[in-house]
Amino acid sequence: MFENLKKPAPDKIIEMIGLFAADDRADKLDLGVGVYKDADGKTPVMRAVKAAEKILLENQQSKSYVGLLGDLSYVDAMRDLVLGDAVAPGRVCGAQEPGGTGAIRQIFELIKAANAGATVWISDPSWPNHEAILKYLGMNIGKYRYFDEASCGVDFEGMKGDLSAAQAGDVVLLHGCCHNPTGANITLAQWGEITDLVLAKGLVPMVDIAYQGFGDGLEEDTKGLRHMATRVPEMLIAASCSKNFGLYRDRVGAALIISKDGAEAAVSKANLAGLNRLNFSFPPDHGAKVVSIIMNDPALRADWEAELEEMRQSMLSLRQELADALRRASNSDRFDFIGEHRGMFSRLGLSPEQVLKLRKDYAIYMVGDSRISIAGLPHAGLDKFAKAIASVI
Ligand code: LMR
Repeated sequence: MFENLKKPAPDKIIEMIGLFAADDRADKLDLGVGVYKDADGKTPVMRAVKAAEKILLENQQSKSYVGLLGDLSYVDAMRDLVLGDAVAPGRVCGAQEPGGTGAIRQIFELIKAANAGATVWISDPSWPNHEAILKYLGMNIGKYRYFDEASCGVDFEGMKGDLSAAQAGDVVLLHGCCHNPTGANITLAQWGEITDLVLAKGLVPMVDIAYQGFGDGLEEDTKGLRHMATRVPEMLIAASCSKNFGLYRDRVGAALIISKDGAEAAVSKANLAGLNRLNFSFPPDHGAKVVSIIMNDPALRADWEAELEEMRQSMLSLRQELADALRRASNSDRFDFIGEHRGMFSRLGLSPEQVLKLRKDYAIYMVGDSRISIAGLPHAGLDKFAKAIASVI
C-alpha cells in the first residue's frame, strides 16, 4: 500500500523551521515562522495566561468531554471580541476549533457542503495554507490581485477588477488585519468598497483574522470586518488565539458564522458540530478555557490587553527602526513601506536568489518570497541586518 504514497510538497513556512534548526551557525537569525519574540528572543507565556492556568489547575473538577462545539463561554467571548455589537447575537453561531487553521478547514468544509461549486477567491499572495487546504478539499480556487510589487502597497484596482469576475455564491477570503504575507492592508474605506462589490454580486465574504491586536489595536483591527458584518446577510469568520494570546501550541481558534436569521444560524451551528464530530470529535479544551477565564475576569482581561499592547508597540518600533536602518544602509527610501505596513509580517521585495544568498552568507532565514517576521528582528542588531540586505540588492 505505502509504495503508492508520494511525498507531499513541503509547506514553505514549516520547511523554514527545519532548515533553521539544522543550521549550526551561532549568529543565525530566524525571521521565518510567525511567532512573537521579545527583546531576549523568547516567546513568552503571557502573564494573564499563566494566571488563568493557575486558576484552571486549582478549580477544574473533571476532564470529561465538554461538547462538540467546545466551551460555549469561549465561543461567546470570541464572538464579542471579533464582532463587538456589529451583529445581533441571534444571527451568529460559532464553534471552538483547534487553532485558526482548524477554523479555516472547518469553514471550507462548510462552504463545500453548502455549495460545492463555489469558487473561493484568495488574495495573490495569501497565507500558503489557504490554497493548500482548498486544493486538498478539491475546491475551486480563484485568485485576486492584491500586492503591488512596485509600491509594496495594495493593488486595490487590481483586486476589485479580479473580484468583478466572481459569480454569485462565490466566497471572497479576506484577511481581517495584518495581511499575511505582505503586511499591506486595505483601508476602512476600501473595506466599504469591497462590501459594496460583495453585495452587488451576491458574494459571501470569509474573513481570516489571526492577528487581532497586532496591527492598529484590538478594536481598530476589527473595524473593516465589523463594517462589513453590519451590511452583509452572511459571513464566515476564522479567528485565532495563537498570536494575540500566545497560545500557539494549545491550538485555540474559533469558527463564527453570521447567517440571515436565527433559523439558518441554528442549521449552521448543527453543521459545525457535525463537522467537528467527523474530523476530531471534541476540540481541545485547555487553551480555550484559559481564554474564557481571561475574558470573563476584568483584571486578567486588562492585564492581557496591556501586554498585547506592549507587544504591538514593540513590533511598531522595530518596523520604524528597521525602515530607518535600511534607509541608511541602502541610501534609498526603497524600504520605507516597512514603517507603513502593519502586523507581524512584511514582504521585502527581494528575489528568491537574494533570499538564498542571505541564508547562505549571513544565516538569515526568511520565507522564499522574502516575507520577514518583524518580531524576530534583533533589537540590538538592526544595522547589521540592514547592511546584509543592502549587500544582496
Ligand atoms: C505563519 O504564517 O508563519 C503562521 O501563521 C504560522 C503558520 O502556521 O504558518
